[in-house]
Amino acid sequence: MALSTPHLLGLNGVPKEDIQLILDTATTFREVLDRPIKKVPTLQGKTIVNLFYESSTRTRISFELAQKRLSADIVNFSKGTSSVSKGESFKDTVKNIEAMKVDMIVVRHSSAGVPHYLTRISNANIINAGDGLHEHPTQALLDMYSIREKLNSLEGLRICIIGDIAHSRVALSNIYGLKTMGATVNVCGPATMIPKELERLGVKIYNNVDKAIAEHDVINVLRIQLEREAGISIPSLREYHNYFGITAERIERNNKDILILHPGPINRGVELSSEVADGPYQVILNQVTNGVAIRMAVLYLLGTAN
Ligand code: CP
Repeated sequence: MALSTPHLLGLNGVPKEDIQLILDTATTFREVLDRPIKKVPTLQGKTIVNLFYESSTRTRISFELAQKRLSADIVNFSKGTSSVSKGESFKDTVKNIEAMKVDMIVVRHSSAGVPHYLTRISNANIINAGDGLHEHPTQALLDMYSIREKLNSLEGLRICIIGDIAHSRVALSNIYGLKTMGATVNVCGPATMIPKELERLGVKIYNNVDKAIAEHDVINVLRIQLEREAGISIPSLREYHNYFGITAERIERNNKDILILHPGPINRGVELSSEVADGPYQVILNQVTNGVAIRMAVLYLLGTAN
């Protein structure tokens, strides 16, 4: 079995069979992560560059661990310590890295479309690790995997993405992927944080978080992205927490069967209370563990295809 594409740029338009194959392959790799020796020789001889132009904890470490678990040779690029600080262009940087014979590039960049651009200037397999406000496909895949792990199937589930939808690449990838897999996806948040165009994707908009919790099986709670000027969309973080913050009291009043996801990093006391962030309804650290298995699956499927 092989994916229908040599790159993973986003989940928009990715067929159900591809998503199913990635999730099923990740199940095999998830088992590898529980072994005493967490390593397989699958990508021996492949060279992968992690091209991170934007900060990251989870995605970067997760990709690096996934590559090491698959026995690939890896190189990490950081904008701050590279010749970008001497004025070298993005294209020249990539061309020089590629001249050193790399097979795959994992890229995170603050500009939407950079992974697509890379496919035009490079012969490597390209994996999008988050591009601007566009997509973050491996995050959505690990979210789907974590939901499926707990609730067995995605088909027919009702999932609400809550929070700063306007500044979120995670939201868009989740909407595309989950809808392809047969789930109903809605969003909830302040009107200033929800682009109206989302309704064109068949997504219903909730402004009342209690109703959103009551009417869904899963909530995926997003971070208020203060570094992307989300702060100007709300009067204050305290007011946001009062109206949209997920608290134990809200969960217990509205839906004790809910499953709670958060992609991280968390603003504790803003989108989630600490009680919820560490409590029994959430699977936040399972998401992080599953992220390594998902990235192993994506790297393996793209790296071993002809
Ligand atoms: N979820 C996520 O993308 O986290 P990082 O920004 O730490 O990679």
